[in-house]
Amino acid sequence: MGEDELRGLGVLYYRFPSLEGVDKLAAERGYKNRDEITVSPEKMGDVYEDKVKMFFNEHLHEDEEIRYIRGGQGYFDVRTRDEDWVRVQLEKDDLLILPAGIYHRFTTDEYNVSTPG
Ligand code: LAC
Ligand code: NI
Repeated sequence: MGEDELRGLGVLYYRFPSLEGVDKLAAERGYKNRDEITVSPEKMGDVYEDKVKMFFNEHLHEDEEIRYIRGGQGYFDVRTRDEDWVRVQLEKDDLLILPAGIYHRFTTDEYNVSTPG
């Protein structure tokens, strides 16, 4: 998945088959809070459509974005410095950290896997 390119953008990728690794990383990096969401119409109800659209709209955050995938498959598209996209495919046990201020979008394969453009 172009790991060198991702590293160059400050994106960190880990694989943690158990919570031990996650807990250690969280302690090292000073992460205090966690929550869990299931991206599905069943679990999200009425807000599902809006949420997946928001996720798939290119956006950025003031803080890091940390996502630990517990099942299914997801795709992050991350903007490179020359305005290209890198697509990162994630599945169970993958943990991704996007640095603050990097443009990205996200989708699951349930919803929309269009080619980055
Ligand atoms: C978010 C993702 C999905 O902001 O980019 O939660
Ligand atoms: Ni985001």
